[in-house]
Amino acid sequence: MRQEYEKYTAEDMEVWNLLFERQQQQLPKQADEAFLEGVRIIGFKKDHIPNFEEMNVVLEKETGWGLEVVKGLIPNKEFFELLKAKRFPASTWFRKLSELEYLEEPDMFHDVYGHVPLLTNKNFAGFLQGLSEIALKHIEDEWIIELISRLYWYTVEFGLINKPEGLRIYGAGILSSSGESTYSLESDIPIRTHFDVQEIMSTPYIKDRFQEKYWVIDSYKELFDSLEQVEDVVNRVLTKDLIIES
Ligand SMILES: [Fe+2]
Repeated sequence: MRQEYEKYTAEDMEVWNLLFERQQQQLPKQADEAFLEGVRIIGFKKDHIPNFEEMNVVLEKETGWGLEVVKGLIPNKEFFELLKAKRFPASTWFRKLSELEYLEEPDMFHDVYGHVPLLTNKNFAGFLQGLSEIALKHIEDEWIIELISRLYWYTVEFGLINKPEGLRIYGAGILSSSGESTYSLESDIPIRTHFDVQEIMSTPYIKDRFQEKYWVIDSYKELFDSLEQVEDVVNRVLTKDLIIES
């Protein structure tokens, strides 16, 4: 599949403009510098819907990654196989102006603006690839895939990071949502706790509202180095040395 760039409408352009502008104003104080740096490297612009071919040239040069056009959500096996091959699956359609705040399925703003910038970071991208390799070893085991998906969810989608300047966001699910960007950092409601592989894998994720708990990493290296622990937790679950109830 390819991005049919010529088919974008005036409404698509307006959606990109509005969401991009809003996050560009809000995120300099909320997003991690590695994400903001990625935005600069990729070269997102207000009046230009990102072009997959252009982004792929930049990503290839930075980390050897690239984007693969997908229609929407894809089966786990296909998803992890793409990530293992350093291809990030992304959709090319945009939400409507009437659904700027709420989305049932990830659109291109989420997939591209939210996810692509950090694909320029070697440790983060290495974590994504390594996690997929582990997932593929157990792809027939629905329970193990569920546990690995939780880890993906609470890091790649909803992760926070500790920086000298304060708490910052790196998860794409937060970064592509104006409301959750502020909520995740400033609200007194959610719990924020240090990154813990086993704890995350024991926590079901929330899809229909803001998260109740955010896990905070100290660095992307910490994320990358946690892959050994992921394998260890998976093995302990498989040998029933560790029981995760639900
Ligand atoms: Fe996502």
